[in-house]
Amino acid sequence: MTRRFRFPDGFLWGAATSAYQIEGSPLADGAGPSIWQRFAHTPGMMANGDTGDVACDHYRRYRDDVQLMRALGLQSYRFSVSWSRVLPEGTGRVNPKGLDFYSRLVDELLANGIVPNATLFHWDLPAALDDRGGWLNRDSADWFADYAQILFRALDDRVPMWATLNEPWVVVDGGYLHGTVAPGHRNLYEAPRVTHNLMRASAAGIQAYRALGKHAIGVVFNIEPKYPASDAPADIAATRRADAYMNRQFADPALLGSYPPELREVYGEAWPEFADAECRPLRQKVDFVGLNYYTRAVVRHNAAEWLLHAAAVPQAQRPRTETGWEVYEQGLLDLLTGFRARYGDIPLYITENGAAFADPPHVAGGLLEDPLRVDYLRRHLKAAHAALEAGVDLRGYYAWSLLDNLEWSLGYAKRFGLYHVDFTTQRRTPKASAKFYAQVIASHGEALAEP
Ligand code: BGC
Repeated sequence: MTRRFRFPDGFLWGAATSAYQIEGSPLADGAGPSIWQRFAHTPGMMANGDTGDVACDHYRRYRDDVQLMRALGLQSYRFSVSWSRVLPEGTGRVNPKGLDFYSRLVDELLANGIVPNATLFHWDLPAALDDRGGWLNRDSADWFADYAQILFRALDDRVPMWATLNEPWVVVDGGYLHGTVAPGHRNLYEAPRVTHNLMRASAAGIQAYRALGKHAIGVVFNIEPKYPASDAPADIAATRRADAYMNRQFADPALLGSYPPELREVYGEAWPEFADAECRPLRQKVDFVGLNYYTRAVVRHNAAEWLLHAAAVPQAQRPRTETGWEVYEQGLLDLLTGFRARYGDIPLYITENGAAFADPPHVAGGLLEDPLRVDYLRRHLKAAHAALEAGVDLRGYYAWSLLDNLEWSLGYAKRFGLYHVDFTTQRRTPKASAKFYAQVIASHGEALAEP
């Protein structure tokens, strides 16, 4: 018997992007520089010397891009707001033209029947705030709440879904510990302090929303399920550390009001031992949690590995994407059921899921064939459906990403889009995955069944 994959009515189908990755024109209309503007213009930081100066030129082409969303039948679009467009110095003076861009984008979405889902912080901190210590400064939580209030006042009448932060782990691990993303620090002692200030900021943003907002607010985590390489106690302990560091370091304070005990082992003397009274207020009622899923890791104890004393075991026989990530759809199901088991019944959205593949430059019938991406989406959407069948309160799915875009320090070479972007001409071409996703949406998931 052919399995059926019908998703419930009201399940929200979307696609996601973020400001610095697609907008371009980073200093237009009075915007201040962000830390990504600085980082991308620092020699040696970006693959191929790429920057977000032009990106997908979405800042000027947003109307056309909304038509691409419409062609997919998207019901919702998840985007992020560039803080330094709205507040060029990060605090104080509002730049009306910067705010107006998001107001126009939201109007355009609504005029096309697409629900706006706005993320307040997707990594592009105003450079002026970095000059004041950035996320190391305890005032950052207040800066963030003040910025959030400006957005709530301007757009909550039209934006029904908000998220405070996108993937705080990347900011901490890439931005402050390994220096691979902005602001490019490498400092073990900074990392847990940044975690704490990010989680304080998220909590302050949610509190501000309770006073001003009328709809829903949540926070977005990237969760990478960790599986032990064997039953050996050392591997199981290593897996727990890896999970605490990447996943629970953020979800626990936000949803339970405490940090996982393994973080003491991980950070050693760099762990600040936050008092309970510091941690409890990090837990604020959220209306939903957004989960970004790309891959999993199989973990083995390895004393030689710095920090975690754990190593990811490559799964040689399994398919991988262009970013080297194993394709493992079971991980999405495990993540969703595991998240509910640990944190209880909170409405969940998959706020990002997708894959980079080198798309062949072959256009057949106006479509660019990307069978690997179609396969990736099909597998993961089936896993999402299985989670619904297992009783998870999953409310929607956002594909990453609408367009090929700037994959941060990996530059433009890693393509995640449903639409191919020619970065010389800015021409957008639908990939076969765009057509496939449109069919899935139109059929409420029925198109996931194999032909
Ligand atoms: C981020 C995106 C990024 C994607 C693929 C997530 O970590 O939120 O900005 O492009 O994954 O790496």
